[in-house]
Amino acid sequence: MADEPLVLGIETSCDETGVGIVRGHTLLADAVASSVDEHARYGGVVPEVASRAHLEAMVPTVERALKDAGVAASDLDGVAVTAGPGLAGALLVGVSAAKAYAYALGKPLYGVNHLASHICVDQLEHGALPEPTMALLVSGGHSSLLLSSDITSDVRPLGATIDDAAGEAFDKVARVLNLGFPGGPVIDRYAREGDPEAIAFPRGLTGPRDAPYDFSFSGLKTAVARWIEAKRSAGEEVPVADVAASFQEAVTDVLTRKAVRACRDEGVEHLMIGGGVAANSRLRAMARARCEAAGITLRVPRPKLCTDNGAMVAALGAEMVARDRAPSDWDLSADSSLPVTEPHVPGVSHSGASGHGHTHGHSHDHVHETSAENLYS
Ligand code: KG4
Ligand code: ZN
Repeated sequence: MADEPLVLGIETSCDETGVGIVRGHTLLADAVASSVDEHARYGGVVPEVASRAHLEAMVPTVERALKDAGVAASDLDGVAVTAGPGLAGALLVGVSAAKAYAYALGKPLYGVNHLASHICVDQLEHGALPEPTMALLVSGGHSSLLLSSDITSDVRPLGATIDDAAGEAFDKVARVLNLGFPGGPVIDRYAREGDPEAIAFPRGLTGPRDAPYDFSFSGLKTAVARWIEAKRSAGEEVPVADVAASFQEAVTDVLTRKAVRACRDEGVEHLMIGGGVAANSRLRAMARARCEAAGITLRVPRPKLCTDNGAMVAALGAEMVARDRAPSDWDLSADSSLPVTEPHVPGVSHSGASGHGHTHGHSHDHVHETSAENLYS
């Protein structure tokens, strides 16, 4: 519908320069430039390399998105951008670009939360998000269970990883198997040829006294590495497909079990799964089966919308406009540790419209590098 908000979204929190354009719940363009190949030889994302790549890709990617969508920049109702969480230097490129576009075009600016965007993107695939929705977000940087009754204003964290993110575990196991980076897609492929029950790898934090919704994948990663090491030092061949399948089974078992339990405990009938790991074929199949058995409706966007992209940011921006949320101020900063409970960063001059009582400063000295450190370990 032509009266739905037309929003451009910019995403630069990690290694993808994403620019999306949506009208309400309709995807018009999803342009992505990735620097993943430049990081491959380091086995993880290098923040400075990512920032430089964003800078180079930004203008061409915005122009490509506008062309793909067949809209003029002057027709936009707003410009949305990931304000955090993510790599500080990488976020800054997106925030600066979004400010420049919004200011030059005379459009409102919406600094939005990367995690809430991962949830909101499903509106482009399956229509309006049910309220409430349970979200399982699994990527290289995060693994969380979130409950949202309104994606523009209410996101409640139920649990998260206490060590490695799910995608990080895939990447590290792939590295031990010498399968390259990123590890998720290649492990997914090998696992299809393997036996998921060949090796009984541990299911972290599933004991009766463990936090019911938190995750831990570092013990699993270590168990896999030790198992491989034992084979190698015994001079035996490592059965790559079986290791991949058994590891993948352990991760997806825990993720789906906890997500379904959270839905049941909270009386929520809709589960969405997002983030790069949601592309995993076994995770999708297992979630489908377990949700069906529990009477839960499952929503998983197509893989391209699950990995980092600009369309998800535009989707949340459009929802902010549709629900009349306050735009951000021109001094919006990148906030590498923006709390998940803040779906967007309303301007101080408009803060009456927000119930968040923004007290922590969004000044530049608040910006610091955090998320990338453990990628080197
Ligand atoms: O959401 P995303 O693109 O970026 C982050 O915010 O991290 O997720 C990337 C992560 C990587 O760790 C990658 O290995 C993982 O998602 N991934 C997968 C699959 N495709 C991507 N993990 C498991 N199975 C897949 N098919
Ligand atoms: Zn992400």
